Amino acid sequence: MKKLIDKLHQEQILSAEEFRTLLTDRSEETDLYARELADQVRQQVYGNQIYVRGLIEFTNYCKNDCYYCGIRRSNRNAQRYRLTEEDILACCKEGYELGFRTFVLQGGEDGYYTDEKLTALIRKIKEVYPDCALTLSIGEKSEESYRAYKEAGADRYLLRHETAREEHYRKLHPEEMSCENRKNCLRTLKKLGYQTGAGFMVGSPYQTIDDLVEDFLFLKELDPEMVGIGPFISHQDTPFHDEKSGTLEDTLFYLALLRLMLPNVLLPATTALGTICPKGRELGVKSGANVVMPNLSPVSVRKKYMLYDGKICTGDEAAECRFCLSRRMELIGCQIVTDRGDYKKVLQ
Ligand code: 5AD
Ligand code: FES
Repeated sequence: MKKLIDKLHQEQILSAEEFRTLLTDRSEETDLYARELADQVRQQVYGNQIYVRGLIEFTNYCKNDCYYCGIRRSNRNAQRYRLTEEDILACCKEGYELGFRTFVLQGGEDGYYTDEKLTALIRKIKEVYPDCALTLSIGEKSEESYRAYKEAGADRYLLRHETAREEHYRKLHPEEMSCENRKNCLRTLKKLGYQTGAGFMVGSPYQTIDDLVEDFLFLKELDPEMVGIGPFISHQDTPFHDEKSGTLEDTLFYLALLRLMLPNVLLPATTALGTICPKGRELGVKSGANVVMPNLSPVSVRKKYMLYDGKICTGDEAAECRFCLSRRMELIGCQIVTDRGDYKKVLQ
């Protein structure tokens, strides 16, 4: 087992069979070995610097109906909201003053925000904050739309593939969505020159080892600049309300493997990880993660962007989260930096 971890560290790739073994024959000892090695690789590439991204959840309207997600269109209990351009710019202003140099605009797939509205918004943010990176996380769009956002000034795009195997994808999404389209969107984003982020949920319902093997192989092939993974957590108003959550141990182990496989990747310790364990994000960083994404959304809408139950930080002001995270990172020997935090192409 340690041999396979060393091999992944040295060669940054394993065969499907080797991944299957690595994901199956686990022990506490080998898990820890992988996590410590990944922590070292993170330090070699990024030092003790942790990048922050200010997350602005600007709409919870969504035309999709993913079975796991709390803001799926069928959830009649979700109180829907949209932030105005003015609201969003106020979030950026607050974030900028707190030292954020990356803003992430995340939302459901909301037809209200036409390409025209989005490109105007992107231009405006980049005009006011030319020294900031802008990340979009607004789902599956056409190549033309992605191109228009890029030309308007968007730098990065997050679109988790959710699961790389069609068979599993079918169990998480209604028929109108497809794994192939999602993967194609990711390839398009890369082609257009976005710093691109893919990723999957850990412990989502029906997930098997074979699914995970495909996730790792797909990520290797795509070679994204960012990978977002976090535990699945059930939401009471979804078809998966009784399904159990992904575990801390699995998430930390997969974070470690991702850091070993893609040494330079931008890898967040997610809010979902902080939700299943109070020290989840710190443990994430100590397992290879190098990014945290505190919430910049106005407190008045925070509780409405509930993808899963129990989400942390929904009552806290942006400044509270910012300082809370600084303290948390300092306690583990890391430092949050005021920097765009772009992908590092070469090992330092
Ligand atoms: N638990 C954990 N993560 C979730 N997401 C959506 N619903 C859940 C849930 N119930 C994740 C998806 C999506 C990202 C924005 O949030 O992976 O891509
Ligand atoms: Fe939000 Fe700690 S990060 S309160």
